[in-house]
Amino acid sequence: MARKTIVAAKTISGGISVPGDKSISHRYAILAALAEGTSEIRNFSTADDCARTLACLERLGVAITRTKDSVRITGAGLRGLKAPRRTLDAGNSGTTIRLLAGVLAGQPFESTITGDASLRRRPMRRVIEPLTQMGARIRARDSEFAPLEIHGGTLRSIDYALPVPSAQVKSAVLLAGLYAEGVTAVTEPHRTRDHTEVALAEFGATVERPGRTIRVHGGPRLQAAQLTVPGDISSAAFFLAAALLLPDSNLLINGVGLNPTRTAILDVLASWGAPVSLVNLEMRRGELVGDIAVRYAPLTGGTISGAQVPGLIDELPMLAALGPFTERGIEIHGAAELRVKESDRIAALAENLRRMGARVEEFPDGLRVAGKLAGALRGAEIDPRGDHRIAMAFAVAGLAVSGKTVIRDADCVAVSFPSFWDLLERLTEW
Ligand code: S3P
Repeated sequence: MARKTIVAAKTISGGISVPGDKSISHRYAILAALAEGTSEIRNFSTADDCARTLACLERLGVAITRTKDSVRITGAGLRGLKAPRRTLDAGNSGTTIRLLAGVLAGQPFESTITGDASLRRRPMRRVIEPLTQMGARIRARDSEFAPLEIHGGTLRSIDYALPVPSAQVKSAVLLAGLYAEGVTAVTEPHRTRDHTEVALAEFGATVERPGRTIRVHGGPRLQAAQLTVPGDISSAAFFLAAALLLPDSNLLINGVGLNPTRTAILDVLASWGAPVSLVNLEMRRGELVGDIAVRYAPLTGGTISGAQVPGLIDELPMLAALGPFTERGIEIHGAAELRVKESDRIAALAENLRRMGARVEEFPDGLRVAGKLAGALRGAEIDPRGDHRIAMAFAVAGLAVSGKTVIRDADCVAVSFPSFWDLLERLTEW
C-alpha cells in the first residue's frame, strides 16, 4: 500500500479544475442507461466509485464507451436492462449500491449487488424498507447488509417520509418510482442534494417539487441527453481548505458545481472569515456552475449542527481537520451519519487528530476540536482506515504543521479523486 509523506508547505496558488462531480456522474450514467438513444457525458467523474456504476450498468446489458473526454452510453430504455450473469460489484460506493437497488427493484429479474468490506458494513435497511413497501423482495445479511439479493417486479407507488436525510435513499425511491404505477413521493426531513430530481427532469421524466416533497411520475420514456458534469465541490473543498491554512495562498477553482444543496461549505467558511468569491456563474442543465476564488485568511471556527449537516456531510472531515488551526475550534453535532460512511468518520477524525496532538472530544453524533490556543499540531502517521476523505483531510492538515505527516494507504483517494496527489504537488510551494 502506498504511503505519502507530507511536509510543511509555504503556500498554495494557481488555477485548477477538479474532476467532474461524483454524485452527478452516477446519476447521469444511470439515467442515460434507462433512456432511449445515446447520451454523451463530458467531464464524467474519474472516481473509482463512478467507474463501478458504469461497470454494473454494463453487466446489465448497457453499451458504454469511454473516450478521453467523454462517456457515451446507449440506453436500454426503461424496460430494456438484462439480467446480470454475475453479482454486481459496487466496490466502495454507497451511491452505486443504493441507487442501483432502486433500479433493480423495478426489474423483472433477480440480481445480487455487493461491495467491498467497507460497503458490506454500511446500513442498507434504509433502502430495503421503502423498496419492500413498493413491492420488491430483498434479502440482505442480517436484514441490513450487502450482498443484497433483489427480486424485482411490478412496483406500486408510495408516499415516503425519509427517516434519515439521505440523498441516496431519496434517489433509490425516486428511481424505483420510474417503474411504479402512478406518482411516487418522497419527503425529506432536511434538504439533501437534489441532483436526482434535477437530472430526472433533464432526461424527460415528470418531476414535481412542492416544499420538501419530490414527486416522480411512473413509466416515462426517458430521452438521451448531451451533458457536461460540473466540477466536484466536495473535491474542491480540500484545496479551499489548503488555501485557508497557508499564508499568501490564492486559488481559482474553475467550473465547480454550485448547486445550492451542495454549497453550505462555502457559507460556513465565509462565516468563519474566509475570503471566498464566486465568478462566471452559469446555469447548465439545471445545475449552477461557476469558478471559486479563495485567498488565505485566518478562520474563527464555530459550530455546525442540525439542518446544516446534510448539506455539508462530505465536507465535515475536512472542516473538522481545520479545527486546530482556527481561533475558537470547531464543534459538530447532529452528524451521527458520519459513523456509517466509508469509515466511522467521527472515530477516524478523533484518532488521527489526537495523533497530531489536537485536543478532541468525541460525541455519539459529532466532535469538538479545540482551536489554536490548545497548541500547535505536529506531523504524525495517519491511518485513514481506507477512507478517501480522511486521507485527503489529513494530507491538507499536514501542510500546515511541523514535521512529517505520513498518510498510510494513500491510494484510497482514488475512490473520489485519483488526481489529488498530483494536483497537490503541482500547486503547493514547499
Ligand atoms: C451522496 C449522498 C450522501 C453523500 C455521498 C454521496 C449521493 O450520502 O455522503 O458521498 O451521491 O447521493 P447519504 O445520502 O447517505 O447521506
